[in-house]
Amino acid sequence: MKILLIGSGGREHALAWKLAQSDQVHKVYVAPGNGGTATAKQQLGGIENLPITDLFELANFAKREKIHLTVVGPEAPLAAGIVDVFRNEGLRIFGPTRLAAQLESSKDFSKAFMKRHGIPTADYKTFSNAQDAHAYLNEKGAPIVIKADGLAAGKGVVVAMGLDEAHAAVEMMLSDNKFGGAGARVVIEEFLSGEEASFIVLVDGKNVLALATSQDHKRLLDADQGPNTGGMGAYSPAPVVTPEIHARALREVIIPTVKGMASDGIPYTGFLYAGLMISPNGTIKTLEFNCRMGDPETQPIMARLRSDLVYALDFAVDGKLDEINLEWDRRTALGVVLAAFNYPDHPRTGDEITGMPIDTEDQLIFHAGTQFQNGKLVTSGGRVMCVVGLADTVRAAQQKAYAAIENVHFDGMQFRKDIGYHAIK
Ligand code: AMP
Ligand code: GLY
Repeated sequence: MKILLIGSGGREHALAWKLAQSDQVHKVYVAPGNGGTATAKQQLGGIENLPITDLFELANFAKREKIHLTVVGPEAPLAAGIVDVFRNEGLRIFGPTRLAAQLESSKDFSKAFMKRHGIPTADYKTFSNAQDAHAYLNEKGAPIVIKADGLAAGKGVVVAMGLDEAHAAVEMMLSDNKFGGAGARVVIEEFLSGEEASFIVLVDGKNVLALATSQDHKRLLDADQGPNTGGMGAYSPAPVVTPEIHARALREVIIPTVKGMASDGIPYTGFLYAGLMISPNGTIKTLEFNCRMGDPETQPIMARLRSDLVYALDFAVDGKLDEINLEWDRRTALGVVLAAFNYPDHPRTGDEITGMPIDTEDQLIFHAGTQFQNGKLVTSGGRVMCVVGLADTVRAAQQKAYAAIENVHFDGMQFRKDIGYHAIK
């Protein structure tokens, strides 16, 4: 059978790699893919890049090629309604509808949803008027968190430690329109402290199947300093999610969300990613929902998944997730992101990449912003690749990943040197 995968990041390279391992699959089309999925053909026998992005064109392609199942990587096509378009055409696709994707595409929708259904999250208020927002900041004081309502590629959140920074964030979003329509409303919320974890599950409308836990590193610089990014590295499993926290996350966050969406008349299907803040006393609050897999969390998670992903997604699309389980590699997988010069602001592209490591059983390279130009591999986006090491401990997986990138070079390359430190300290 043939699979269509939408997207071009490291998440998609990891998903394509995993989907292509299924015995049932003879071709994975990736639209549009990247330098890694373009060359994966030789290794995996059947991944091919597809240069189309238009939803209706994608649906026509899926029909023409008799695609068995379409899997969506990033949030933008989901928020644009790709699942609605495919379903209207009778095509099998795994993801949430446009309305369900609002859990990610509107912070105001997701905060109001959580409040209505008693799902733990930070206290908040939504503003479209800058003057009111400034007054609220003065009333609440810092630290405080300002979030653009709409999609901003992981960059629409300012965690302000002081009021000056908070007022500047409101100015940037509401007055200077830095994020356009996505920032026309802002959510201002209570600052939470604790340790973060990414809790990602498959949802079929009513049943839930948890994937392995993971932890991202959102800040650009070591020791969680510098600006927020899409994610600079991740590992799985995340020891902060103890069996107790795992049970609580399902009971307090995931199940009420799936039930709440169904009772609101917007049943949720697809990957559901809850960003959790776990406080030292074990209480859980939901920082955000994403309606897709995480990037870079997918890379270590897929590196550990033993089960056939196509088989699992088929059960999800058929509403039968209660009938299966997933098997995981017991080792830790740890991925380090190599980012381009000037990421996350205005990443430079076109830098030649040399010294690429090769895939082995315990070292996997997932491309993101790469492409081939005149036979040379060059950077083409902010996050360039994610190199994953697998080993029995977090420290050993970390050593493996960093050893693998020793010879990689491109001008302006940035990466964190402490991925996994929370689990090692
Ligand atoms: P979000 O996109 O909402 O997950 O926010 C991005 C990042 O900002 C999160 O991963 C946290 O590191 C941080 N963050 C978001 N909301 C809060 C909050 N209420 N308190 C502290 N940090 C937060
Ligand atoms: N790594 C965070 C995200 O995918 O949203």
